[in-house]
Amino acid sequence: MSIRLPIFRKRKQKENDQSTLTNIPRHVAIIMDGNGRWAKRRGLPRAAGHKEGMETVKKVVRQAVEYNIEALTLYAFSTENWKRPKTEVEFIMKLPGEFLHTYLPELIDNNVQVRTIGDLTPLPEHTKEAIHKAIEQTSTNTGLVLNFALNYGSRAEITGAVNQIVKEVADGQLSPNEITEDYISARLYTSHVRDPDLLIRTSGEVRISNFLLWQIAYSEFYFTDVFWPDFDEEQFKLALLEYQNRKRRYGGI
Ligand code: IPE
Ligand code: IPE
Ligand code: MG
Repeated sequence: MSIRLPIFRKRKQKENDQSTLTNIPRHVAIIMDGNGRWAKRRGLPRAAGHKEGMETVKKVVRQAVEYNIEALTLYAFSTENWKRPKTEVEFIMKLPGEFLHTYLPELIDNNVQVRTIGDLTPLPEHTKEAIHKAIEQTSTNTGLVLNFALNYGSRAEITGAVNQIVKEVADGQLSPNEITEDYISARLYTSHVRDPDLLIRTSGEVRISNFLLWQIAYSEFYFTDVFWPDFDEEQFKLALLEYQNRKRRYGGI
């Protein structure tokens, strides 16, 4: 399906005009990085960066809805982020509650389905409560799938799937020749969404940091130096415009 959306509405549109989006990625995944450095540059505590980053999440979600993107997966907390000082982890764990307290009605209005990927078990009770409420209240929505990656790590995810599959084989429920790529994909946290078409990472870091290792096999990558709190509508459009020019070959010619 090809959707045409004007980017700079005032400018006259031409054939192949850079301002026109003709090929919207169906699933966009984002490594939201650079909150701490954004704050440091301003002489603010790291927490201020995380708070401002939450505002960026709202902007990006609104835009994803506007562009009819099917799924948006946001890396909010990794399995490795527990290494951070306790006070910072505690602060980050308060954000989902704060975010959803003010923003859930708009998500509901916009037909957004809130989902998570990752192991929520070790999260504080108040964080889990806020998230479960949002998942429940948006479960019948049919628009944008908004996945928050929380305590998410790709290696932990794959290890979990392997353990599950080995158990099924050991119990005699599954024969080894039934273990296909699709079978494995269906046992990952992301079984409800297609693989990402576009992966964005902000803040100038050019690495994957244990995010969706299996799922990004053929995703297009977009790296920007912009810190997450400064990633706005214009920046998101730039990423989508860049995606327009990518030729996805999947090994073909
Ligand atoms: C991303 O920003 C948010 C999380 C990982 C929770 P950072 O907190 O990693 O910011 P930098 O990379 O230190 O600037
Ligand atoms: C990746 O960012 C995780 C999230 C954005 C949640 P990090 O800041 O944790 O990644 P590294 O440590 O720089 O690789
Ligand atoms: Mg970082």
